[in-house]
Amino acid sequence: TTNMSHTIVIFGASGDLTSRKLIPALYLLYRKGRLPDSTRVVGVSRTEYSHDAWRADLEKTTKQFTGDSFEPKMWAEFAALVFYQPGDLQDSADMDRLATFLNELEGGESTRIYYLSTMPKLYPIAVEMLGAAGLADQSAGPRRVVIEKPFGTDLTTAEQLNTRVHKVFAEDHVYRIDHYLGKETVQNLLVLRFGNSIFEPLWNRNYIDHVQITVAEEVVVGRRGGYYDTSGVMRDMVQNHLLQLMMITAMESPVRFDADMVRGEKVKVLEAVRPMTGADFAQNTLRGQYYGYLNEEGVPANSQTATFTALKLWIDNWRWQGVPFYLRSGKAMSCRTTQIVIQYKEPPLTLFDHCESMEGNRLVIQIQPAEGLQMHIQSKVPDAGMRTRTTDLDFRFRRQFAGDLPDAYQRLLLDAIQGDASLFARSDEVELAWGIVDPILAAWNSPAAPELVKYEAGGWGPDSSTDWMMKQGRQWFDVCPILH
Ligand code: BG6
Repeated sequence: TTNMSHTIVIFGASGDLTSRKLIPALYLLYRKGRLPDSTRVVGVSRTEYSHDAWRADLEKTTKQFTGDSFEPKMWAEFAALVFYQPGDLQDSADMDRLATFLNELEGGESTRIYYLSTMPKLYPIAVEMLGAAGLADQSAGPRRVVIEKPFGTDLTTAEQLNTRVHKVFAEDHVYRIDHYLGKETVQNLLVLRFGNSIFEPLWNRNYIDHVQITVAEEVVVGRRGGYYDTSGVMRDMVQNHLLQLMMITAMESPVRFDADMVRGEKVKVLEAVRPMTGADFAQNTLRGQYYGYLNEEGVPANSQTATFTALKLWIDNWRWQGVPFYLRSGKAMSCRTTQIVIQYKEPPLTLFDHCESMEGNRLVIQIQPAEGLQMHIQSKVPDAGMRTRTTDLDFRFRRQFAGDLPDAYQRLLLDAIQGDASLFARSDEVELAWGIVDPILAAWNSPAAPELVKYEAGGWGPDSSTDWMMKQGRQWFDVCPILH
């Protein structure tokens, strides 16, 4: 019903995610008039704050993170919808107090979003405490839970988490955030593929030689060493963001744009990934670590954690048989760029001379930071016989659309409020993704492990990664995007 009130309850409210992402996103949604009427935000954490003290803190951080979009008058209106309830989610008396507070605030039926922005080890406990306090009872309106990654640290812990969550919330009420799915350009990949007719007929093994998915970061691990060392690039980036990008790139068209249909198609991609065995791990996976990683705070001096990886995965289905998917991610790389390269096959016959070496067509999907896409095509060099050169058709969001692209959290929070789970990870998706990552991590821990190769910061990872591609007759698309 439209006049039902909406409450977003943030557990772990005093944390970094709340001030850096969640409150700025909610404020910007409010400013654009996107939040449903009578939406309220309630922060919960153990710190004692009054409503006003919390609002004052958030005002400072929101100003910092929203820049020119911060308007004092708008903020004041929004801040009046923001409340704070101190409490320990592990304490049932505190949870009962929270229930009373919410019921009084709402005064009737409501849609509630419980956003778990706590330490991951508290996720199952938080869910159980919500259940025990009657806060997951769906009879007074929908009760949804939003969980941030990591969803477990391997398949076993992910299954345990899902089992415990499902005892309290049915899967339809569980919203697992992978913020990559909230990025405008990732959503646009669905539009590119399924909202146009010229790409899909060529989007298969008949025309595509291979696919490259790169998530390169210029940053180093910095102050997150303690967390990062237990995680590494496989758990931090591949299990979630890279596999999500691969699913969206490789999936079949859903019958409708509906949460279960979209996710059903995505899941089939992971189900088709060929399991690695024996020598595959040494041949199809690379692991690297940047020089200087061992000196990061919180990182043991003998750490074997990978900060870079390149993987070659096969998707065994009719569309993709024989087309390798290369996934690559690392910290301390030459620039920040997330790009998906669709490398088409070369023309069957060479009629013309090429300036450099002959290249097949290439579609480069720039996820960030130069959001857009480029199609690389051969063109005739003027006044030069029939020589050709690779040229660009170039689409940029920033040139064609006014304003900044909204941060992923705006879309995802709004979808959670409206009950659309299309852009959230389903339990089977998460478990299948661990099923791909776990054997690789196990192999990396065994005598069969590929060498952990050190690399200099500021490049494209270890040189062995370039060589590895060359041996396969291919080349990474190592180009930093031009930002304007
Ligand atoms: C997070 C990882 O999930 O994604 C970080 O934990 C990483 O290590 C970040 O830096 C990258 O996100 P984005 O949106 O900056 O590409």
